[in-house]
This record gives sequence, C-alpha cells and structure tokens, in this order.
Amino acid sequence: MMGGLRYLYLLNVTVHVTAAVLWLGGMFFLALVGAPVLRKLETPALRASLFAELGRQFRALAWIALGLLLVTGTLNLYFRGVLTDVSMGSPHFWRTPFGGTLALKLILVALLLVIQALHDFRWGPAVSRSQPGGSTAPLRRRAALAARVNAVLGLLVLIAAVRLARGG
Ligand code: HEM
Repeated sequence: MMGGLRYLYLLNVTVHVTAAVLWLGGMFFLALVGAPVLRKLETPALRASLFAELGRQFRALAWIALGLLLVTGTLNLYFRGVLTDVSMGSPHFWRTPFGGTLALKLILVALLLVIQALHDFRWGPAVSRSQPGGSTAPLRRRAALAARVNAVLGLLVLIAAVRLARGG
C-alpha cells in the first residue's frame, strides 16, 4: 500500500479499535463495576434512577461506537481490497479462511445489533418505567440476560476480529 493511503488505512483501523474498546469496555465496566456498586445502595428509588441514568448516558456512546464500527469496518475491507464484486461476489471468497471468518464476524455483529437494540430501546426502558419494589424481577432478569449475552457476543466478535487481521 502506498504512502497516503497507508496512513488513512492505519487511521481507520485505529478508529475501529478505539470504538471497539469504548463499546466493549463500557459494557464490561457497567456489568462488573457499575451494577454491583448500584446493587449495594439501600434506597430502591435511588438505585433505579441511577441505573436508568447510567443506561441512558452509556446508550448514546454505545450507538455512536457501533455506528463507527460499521463504517470503519466496511472501510477496512475497502483498504484491504476485498470490498469488490469480484471478491465478495464469488462463492470462493466466502470459503477462504478470511471470507469464512468475515462471514462469522458479520453474523455475530448482526445478532448483537438486534440484541443491543432490544435491550436499549425496549427491555431496559421497561425496567426503568416500572415501579421499584413491584414485580420487576422478570423484566430485570431479561434486560440483564440480554446485556450478558451481548458481552459474550462482543468477546466472540473480538476473537473473530483478531483472526481476521491475521488472514482469518
Ligand atoms: C460491519 C462490521 C465490521 C466489519 C466489516 C469489520 C471488519 C474488520 C476488518 C476487515 C478488520 C481487519 C483490519 C485490518 O487489520 O486490516 C477488523 C479488525 C478489527 N475489528 Fe472489526 N469489523 C466490524 C465490526 C467490529 C465490531 C462490532 C467490533 C467489536 C468488538 C470489531 C473489532 C475489531 C478489532 C478489535 C479489530 C482489530 C483486530 C486486530 O488488529 O487484531 N469489529 N474489522
């Protein structure tokens, strides 16, 4: 790759990795640090409103990071020269190690986008709207499960990404 293009490619990968760090790091921070601390609070109403506020604040960052990942991820394919009909349009491409790992990564990404949307715009807000102390346990369990499943999917995407950068 020649001069200027190489710098654009490196910049793009750096933005891609930074967005991945923000998204995945934020999810693990909330799950392993934020939620356990909030659970220790004695006042249910305060706990609920802090949880809702943390969720809302992180949600905006998470979707900016996910948007950046989709754009810079696609550009990564362009810089690597595979974003063409000739390569991606041929069944052979998807049977190479790179194509196979890319297909896996894309399926995992699609799945996590759906779960993230359900969690952020449906299940999470439903917990926040419900009365604290009421029968919110099933709602809360569903939102918590979705968040955990997405953290695991995020790790699987990371494993696929590391392979992808090294040829699949
Ligand atoms: C449409 C979605 C995506 C596409 C098309 C895509 C594509 C790519 C490609 C082609 C590379 C290799 C870059 C290179 O070294 O030339 C890469 C690297 C990487 N991707 Fe993605 N990506 C996507 C989404 C994501 C997501 C959601 C994450 C979040 C975990 C992620 C995390 C990473 C990481 C950490 C690397 C660097 C791996 C390394 O250098 O070892 N990507 N991505």
